[in-house]
Formats: sequence, C-alpha cells, structure tokens
Amino acid sequence: MALAYNHVEITPRELKPALLELEGISRETVEAHYKLYQGYVSKRNEILTKLAEVDLGSANQVYSDLRALKVDLTFAIGGIKNHELYFEHLGGGGGDPSGVFGAVVKRDFGSVDAWRADLKATGLAGRGWAWTAYDWDEGRLFNYIGDAQNTFPVWNATPLVALDVYEHAYFIDYATDRASYIDAFFANLDYDVVNDWVQRYGIKA
Ligand SMILES: [Fe+2]
Repeated sequence: MALAYNHVEITPRELKPALLELEGISRETVEAHYKLYQGYVSKRNEILTKLAEVDLGSANQVYSDLRALKVDLTFAIGGIKNHELYFEHLGGGGGDPSGVFGAVVKRDFGSVDAWRADLKATGLAGRGWAWTAYDWDEGRLFNYIGDAQNTFPVWNATPLVALDVYEHAYFIDYATDRASYIDAFFANLDYDVVNDWVQRYGIKA
C-alpha cells in the first residue's frame, strides 16, 4: 500500500544582493553556501516525491525505504529552514540588538555581551549550528546547540538567530579559525529582520 502525500514542490528563495557584500564573509563563500541550500530544496522535493510511492508494508526500524526517506527528509528540511534564517538575517550592520529582541536578550541573558558570549561559545561547541530560540513553554530565550541540520531541535521553540558553524560557512575565509568567523557573523547581523520575526510571532519583552 502506498500513501498519497499531498505536497507541493518548493523553490529556493532568492539570495538578497546584500549577502554578496558582507564584511568578512566573502562572496565566494556565500555563493558556494547558497548552492548547498539549493541542494536541500531539491532533495526535499525529491524525497517527498519518493515518499508518495513508498511501500508502507515494508516499514522496518533497521532499514526500510520509509525509514531512510523520513530520516533524511528531516536533514533536508532542517537544511532549508536553517539556511533561510541564516541568509535572511545577514546583510545588516551588526552592533547591539535593538527593539524588542534586544530587550528580551537583556532580560533572559542579563546583558547583550552575555548573550553574545554564550552564543559564540555554543557555536564553538557545536558541529553544525547554534541557535538563539524562544521557548514558548518557558517563555524565554535560550542558545541551543546543533551538530547537523536536524539535531537537536526542541519542540515548541522558535529560532530567531541561526549561526551556521559548518566548515563550509567559513573555511575559505578563515580556514580553521571559527571564532573569527563567528565575530564576522555577529558584525553582519540585521536586527531589523530579527525584530520583524519577533513581532510576527508576538514575542513580548
Ligand atoms: Fe550551511
């Protein structure tokens, strides 16, 4: 028996022109990085197409087509969502976070410097991502760690800052000096974008 998935193909979002003129993150890096994002979109579409044909009767936890497709679908979708956040909130002037996001950062971390230091350390400790996310159950921000596109999300938390620490994000520009790349990431953050998300989600200071 096959399951009829009702899904639509999605297309990659366009790269904002400002992303090609970042301070300390080269155009070469961003263009190569964008190609990886396009790959996540096409694999998501491919996996969902295959899931529409998959044999549910052979489902098995050791190996089955259903298992392989569903596990790797989370990697593809994670890659899409993570990179859409990442590209969207770069291209700004960095500095200290303003607006409601700045206020919530100060409330939940004590200071902007403490938030930045914790997110940077989380990025150094992770193997793929670090996120500042708002946990709706606890009503606060926390810096979460990720080793891959699909680890380790926490239910009912909404990411607001997505720091990509995969080597593809910085190796051309910084070789193994991830700390300097993270500094450049902060210097290019667009807090107006983050505050737009905060407003849209209804997060209050
Ligand atoms: Fe990436």
